[in-house]
Amino acid sequence: MTKSKVILTGDRPTGRLHIGHYVGSLRRRVELQNAGDYAKMFVFIADAQALTDNMENPEKVRQNVIEVALDYLACGLDPERVTLFIQSQIPELCELSFYFMDLVSVSRLQRNPTVKTEIQMRGFEQSIPVGFFTYPISQAADITAFRATTVPVGEDQKPMIEQATEIVRRFNYIYGPTLVEPEIMLPDNSACLRLPGTDGKAKMSKSLGNCIYLSETAEEMHKKVMSMYTDPTHLAVSDPGHIEGNTVFTYLDAFCRPEHFAEYWPDYANLDELKAHYQRGGLGDVKCKKFLEKILNEELEPIRQRRLEYQKDIPAIYEMLRKGCEAARAVAAETLDDVRRAMKINYFDDADLIAEQAKRFNASQN
Ligand code: TRP
Repeated sequence: MTKSKVILTGDRPTGRLHIGHYVGSLRRRVELQNAGDYAKMFVFIADAQALTDNMENPEKVRQNVIEVALDYLACGLDPERVTLFIQSQIPELCELSFYFMDLVSVSRLQRNPTVKTEIQMRGFEQSIPVGFFTYPISQAADITAFRATTVPVGEDQKPMIEQATEIVRRFNYIYGPTLVEPEIMLPDNSACLRLPGTDGKAKMSKSLGNCIYLSETAEEMHKKVMSMYTDPTHLAVSDPGHIEGNTVFTYLDAFCRPEHFAEYWPDYANLDELKAHYQRGGLGDVKCKKFLEKILNEELEPIRQRRLEYQKDIPAIYEMLRKGCEAARAVAAETLDDVRRAMKINYFDDADLIAEQAKRFNASQN
């Protein structure tokens, strides 16, 4: 059977990627890549989208394009199997967004919950850049230009995929079946949906200094793990502890597998037993943090090593991205040919049109 799945996803290059990105999406992408059950897979760096709220800071975006590319390769994405590219280098995406803008109302954009919260977070209430307000439309173009069927992203991106689906339906209804409806693929482990920061705050964010980066050293990570937020009521080791909202346990939920106990902490058979002991009392935070640190290092050390290797040849990374952009552009160009034909704006490659019009005018003259 021929494989029909087209997987596509991307990240805004506004900083190095952290373990929230990793459990939320990166780890899954590498698994999908390795499973090979797809016709095509695209992973891209959404630099144009990053500029929608960093327009005054192009240097930051430029620096982080290469950081994100290195993080991708370090995690194990393989340019032989996945097309890695940079959004701004695909002009077809602008063209498609331009057409999609006619299919979306202002009030529909205003209802997009992700855009709503992001506008608040950025203090944009008074002067929202049009490009930021309409980024769900350009994101729909990112997805549909490559005929993506499957979009592995975090939960926060759900409204974007819904909006893209609506645009596809409306386009196909008006212009005839042309575009493919995408489906979101969420992480299957709920602890991975939104990994909190090391301080227990809702989200990892560079400005809060509560992220563990994929590219940081084991020493840097050690400090962060040791100062992680746990249970403020767990004062003495003998006190009963709470695991809800306890960041160490949330991270264990996201990273720990039963074999880690055999390897690093044979006193317990699995995470449930460890949690039960913590809740009963008699188990200190430091022991749990050390266990978490070992698990994190096991997962992150190969990523750190690969990154160091890739960093040795930066020109090769740019060359790989350039080739990826070229390949991606060829795919988007094909979709745009179909889009223009469906929208009846393909004036010069339609011999019938020209003949028909010639006939119409000549007939009316006689
Ligand atoms: N909005 C996504 C983010 O903030 C990045 C992104 C842009 C994306 N276009 C996309 C993700 C298309 C998936 C598909 O991370």
